[in-house]
Amino acid sequence: MGLPLRNTERSYGLVSQVFHWLVVVLVIIQYIWAWRIDEIDGLRARLELVTQHKTFGMTILSLAVLRLLWRLFNRPPPLPARLPRWEQMAAHGSHWLLYGLILAIPLSGWAYSSAAGFGDYWWGPVDFPSIVAKSEALEDLFGEVHEWLTTALAVVAIGHALAALRHHIWLKNDVLKRMLPLWRRD
Ligand code: HEM
Ligand code: HEM
Repeated sequence: MGLPLRNTERSYGLVSQVFHWLVVVLVIIQYIWAWRIDEIDGLRARLELVTQHKTFGMTILSLAVLRLLWRLFNRPPPLPARLPRWEQMAAHGSHWLLYGLILAIPLSGWAYSSAAGFGDYWWGPVDFPSIVAKSEALEDLFGEVHEWLTTALAVVAIGHALAALRHHIWLKNDVLKRMLPLWRRD
């Protein structure tokens, strides 16, 4: 049986899975780019990397908004019923935290570079408007917020990935498999 577009009672559908794994890849690229920006010599090369970081970041923001809309009209498959209540709550809580972070991080980055007085070029031709006034105080503030939130995302996402592996390896249920496109569900 092929992968349906919408979520079913047993599995995430194609749309949710594409959103999930595309954002995972882009988020990993963002950390690698941030590290490369730190390491690289030369103003031009650095500016190019920062522009790419902004482009990928604004793409994540757009995907996060579309993904949340899709999520509101598409219930995810329920967690295994025998899972203790606290684990169900921890899973749901961390999922909403992850949604919050993939929205708040690009927004803080956008505010950060608006305050610094730079445009936010998206794939070159699209120029996003500034969302906060140019100000050194705001630039410092949103720079700090951006950094803190990215640290929080790293911690929560690693915990989330370990929890998924725990379900697969120790609890031997379908929680990881149902987010994988090649798993046969019939
Ligand atoms: C989910 C999306 C994003 C992730 C995971 C992310 C991650 C990071 C990380 C880890 C850093 C290095 C931490 C620091 O030293 O401040 C950073 C720096 C930065 N980010 Fe992002 N970011 C994202 C989106 C954005 C967006 C949308 C913008 C702007 C439109 C942006 C603008 C910046 C800027 C200007 C820096 C400082 C670069 C420098 O060192 O000069 N980020 N980001
Ligand atoms: C940037 C990193 C990540 C983010 C932002 C993220 C975000 C999310 C979100 C928001 C959900 C909830 C979907 C919903 O039901 O509405 C989810 C589910 C899931 N994620 Fe991730 N994720 C990340 C990385 C990973 C990784 C690395 C793995 C695998 C090891 C993974 C495995 C899963 C699985 C198996 C589910 C389904 C859980 C369930 O059935 O309830 N995620 N993820």
